[in-house]
Amino acid sequence: MHDKPVALVTGANQGIGLQIAKDLAAHGFTVLVGSRNFEKGQTAAKSVGADARAVQLDVTDQASITAAAQRIRSELGRLDVLVNNAAISRTLRHPGMTVEEAVKATRPSVVSLDEMRAVWETNVFGVLAVTQAMLPLLREAPAARIVNVSSGVGSLTRNSDPAFHYRSIFGPVYPASKTALNAITLAMAIELEADGIKVNAACPGFTKTNLNNYAGTQTVEEGAREPVRLALLGPDGPTGTFSNASGPLPW
Ligand SMILES: NC(=O)c1ccc[n+]([C@@H]2O[C@H](COP(=O)([O-])OP(=O)(O)OC[C@H]3O[C@@H](n4cnc5c(N)ncnc54)[C@H](OP(=O)(O)O)[C@@H]3O)[C@@H](O)[C@H]2O)c1
Repeated sequence: MHDKPVALVTGANQGIGLQIAKDLAAHGFTVLVGSRNFEKGQTAAKSVGADARAVQLDVTDQASITAAAQRIRSELGRLDVLVNNAAISRTLRHPGMTVEEAVKATRPSVVSLDEMRAVWETNVFGVLAVTQAMLPLLREAPAARIVNVSSGVGSLTRNSDPAFHYRSIFGPVYPASKTALNAITLAMAIELEADGIKVNAACPGFTKTNLNNYAGTQTVEEGAREPVRLALLGPDGPTGTFSNASGPLPW
């Protein structure tokens, strides 16, 4: 068995995931850089450092997920941390769409169910599929941690408040995919508590990445902070929580 703790970060070839990978490597982990495109993963792994390896992992492809789990077992024999970071905000069906047009097109009254299914496939079902495949390894780890990278725009409590800044964009595609992810996070935390596996959801904050055409206001270093803190929780740390770098968030 590998002598150092091992972390897998999905969607780690760019953005916040890549920064999470770098931070976990700096904390002494061997980091598996999950990437649906293997070459991009290899380039990213090189930038993480010597103790990083690319793993081909498309979270919507069960064969890819199964192969990744088998590879981790045969090459390293352990997995201590899983960061479910990969997500999409929309598909590329309408590449020329402005943000305003995209918001209008995702209102519940007119939203394309195919668009909604495609986003939920990655952001919700992908997380559960990867977690299920990795659980046999995580259960064998002494103190496994699962971090689901969510978003404050999925908070039902916040969106119920007329004063919430992002309320006007709350809709069934991306925001509600994060609401569903939060629900699954809590369900996982409840089931896995007895096994000592802590499962928490983190909001990185509005971060400059490809997801929002680099419109975010935070750096990836800032965005990675809360997911990394939750990945490193000690035995007294919480499970079944939702938070950002400023503290707890309402579900
Ligand atoms: N940026 C923000 O302001 C913000 C705010 C709140 C929450 N978040 C969350 O933060 C996380 C990271 O997002 P980001 O901002 O860093 O966006 P990003 O730069 O677009 O990175 C997303 C990553 O997910 C990967 N991905 C997408 N679909 C995938 C699939 N089917 N299988 C495997 N990987 C897949 C992408 O791979 P490719 O390179 O191949 O596309 C990319 O590596 C997401 O969960 C996002 O919802 C971001």
